[in-house]
Amino acid sequence: MIKVGIIGTGFVADLYMRSFALGTDFELIGAHDRRPERLSQFCAHWDQPAFATSEALLAAIGPGGILLNLTNPASHYEVGRAGLEAGCHVYTEKPLAMNVSDAQALCDLARKKGLMLASAPCSFLGEAAQTVGAAIRADVAGPIRAIYAELDDGFIPQARYADWISESGAPWPAGDEFEVGCTLEHAGYYLTWLIAIFGSVRTVVAASARQVSDLLPVDDPAPDFSVATLFFDCGVVARLTCTIIGPHNHSLRLVGDRGVIELDEAWNNAAKVRFRRRFNLRRRLMESPLARRLKLAGETHPKVGRWGSASMNFALGVTEMAEAIRDGRPCRMSIDLALHLTEVTLAIQGAGETGGAQRMTTRCDPVEPMPWAQRLG
Ligand SMILES: NC(=O)c1ccc[n+]([C@@H]2O[C@H](COP(=O)([O-])OP(=O)(O)OC[C@H]3O[C@@H](n4cnc5c(N)ncnc54)[C@H](O)[C@@H]3O)[C@@H](O)[C@H]2O)c1
Repeated sequence: MIKVGIIGTGFVADLYMRSFALGTDFELIGAHDRRPERLSQFCAHWDQPAFATSEALLAAIGPGGILLNLTNPASHYEVGRAGLEAGCHVYTEKPLAMNVSDAQALCDLARKKGLMLASAPCSFLGEAAQTVGAAIRADVAGPIRAIYAELDDGFIPQARYADWISESGAPWPAGDEFEVGCTLEHAGYYLTWLIAIFGSVRTVVAASARQVSDLLPVDDPAPDFSVATLFFDCGVVARLTCTIIGPHNHSLRLVGDRGVIELDEAWNNAAKVRFRRRFNLRRRLMESPLARRLKLAGETHPKVGRWGSASMNFALGVTEMAEAIRDGRPCRMSIDLALHLTEVTLAIQGAGETGGAQRMTTRCDPVEPMPWAQRLG
């Protein structure tokens, strides 16, 4: 069995463990964190071996195993690099790195060493995203002309986030979240879906702003508001919004010639995917008030219970990587996808008021659907 070891045992590590509890076909060998108290708390809760140093953990994973990098974004580059240098495949939480040149360096190193390198999120491998992909391939809505993707999280400065504690006792890392910013943290939740279905973004025309800096408990907050128009190589155009200001709205709408494919929840693998046919009722053009539920034929994947507003199986990506290694096939969470996702996300986050149009330099082909997502039921 492929060995997997975790560096970074904070808030998100518990979400991974809850997902792993559904069953894995890899061997979790233990974890390391630079904060010994937190490491002990995590390992005691989940009954996992604790490794005092990252070197010891990487040696135990061994060449050909997987390092699961769940550290804070500022550590992703250095921890990911150490994993690759130790001969491990690396699955890292988002973003791959905090700038494109570091992300590129990691990708170059992984390619040189013949190792896999993947960046979360993995929810595009989940049922809802795969259902959207199957609906596009089945031409349910006709050609897609425009996409509206919203990742408004609500007015987070007034949320009781000090009370958000993970299952084994890690507080939600508010300071880090606000310094990294909602775009770097969340744009990937729909960007990965869209890139996986439609392929590369050619041009990003974006703006980002700091609108609630005075309400956040950090000195140097990242933009808390961004809106991007994404021009895909295939001709589709999408508007993507990321804020911690707008009333909670995680909807996705794909507008085609025959109607609209839509869903309401980005963070729920089991979100209902619907199609609303467009028609004229006398002199009024409308999308049907009666939506048709779109479902895949057959079984999909194990689902986790809800944590806050999320119900995502965080194991899907690591499982995909472990199976790809075992079967000697390309990983759906590819180096190209990780790098392209990072370039597009950083372009949006850094756009500011005057960023204007930015041509992307990286590319990614659409991703092969999951074997269980070949057709709608
Ligand atoms: N918080 C969430 O709800 C959430 C959800 C999905 C993804 N993520 C992502 O998961 C990652 C981690 O977020 P989190 O919320 O768990 O943060 P966290 O601060 O709770 O945990 C991160 C842990 O990594 C450790 N760490 C950092 N650098 C290290 C290093 N060099 N060596 C060893 N340990 C190191 C820290 O000590 C800390 O315990 C981020 O990339 C974040 O974007 C978070």
